[in-house]
Amino acid sequence: MNVPTADFRSVMSQFATGVTVVTALDGDRPRGITVNALTSVSLDPPVVVIALDRKRFICPAIDATKAYAVNILAEHQQWLSDCFAGANVTPNRDAFCGAAWTPGATGLPVLDGAIATLECRVTDRFEVGDHYLYVGAVDALTLPEPEAPPLLYHRRRYLRIERATTSRVAGKEETP
Ligand SMILES: Cc1cc2nc3c(=O)[nH]c(=O)nc-3n(C[C@H](O)[C@H](O)[C@H](O)COP(=O)(O)O)c2cc1C
Repeated sequence: MNVPTADFRSVMSQFATGVTVVTALDGDRPRGITVNALTSVSLDPPVVVIALDRKRFICPAIDATKAYAVNILAEHQQWLSDCFAGANVTPNRDAFCGAAWTPGATGLPVLDGAIATLECRVTDRFEVGDHYLYVGAVDALTLPEPEAPPLLYHRRRYLRIERATTSRVAGKEETP
């Protein structure tokens, strides 16, 4: 059976996600790229995985340092998502989009204003089709903006959730 790439993309675009900027260090230079292919794969120990096209410019920096940080973007950071996806803006991605950042607990670039950041150590890299899966053991967390609305991505567009309502997941305990 042959599934056309365009159909696959269309179907997956129906799956709403958050938006992150994955950062890494290239020497002492911060680098970043927009990523929505993030999932948590283990709670204890905490492990996440990101999927990056093998051609992405940031892969060599992640491979060299075996480390990346995931910065979960807030709604007002759409401009960072655009810029770190390579948009033609000034300052551009080569200039780290002019984004304010500080070194996190492990030294990785943590973006100011991000809802939360996970600093990860690469434990495995799997080649799957045209992507790498980078499995990351989570070494440090920050959650400076737990109430900020997240930037969402759906049907290849940003989705704003102002005035949206939420509802409980049946059978799932609500934790503070
Ligand atoms: C919302 C959004 C999510 C993205 N998620 C991913 C992703 O999970 N993995 C990936 O490899 N690229 C992802 N991209 C693409 C890259 O961020 C970017 O478009 C790509 O780096 C194009 O620039 P380049 O080819 O010059 O590197 C995403 C782009 C956007 C706008």
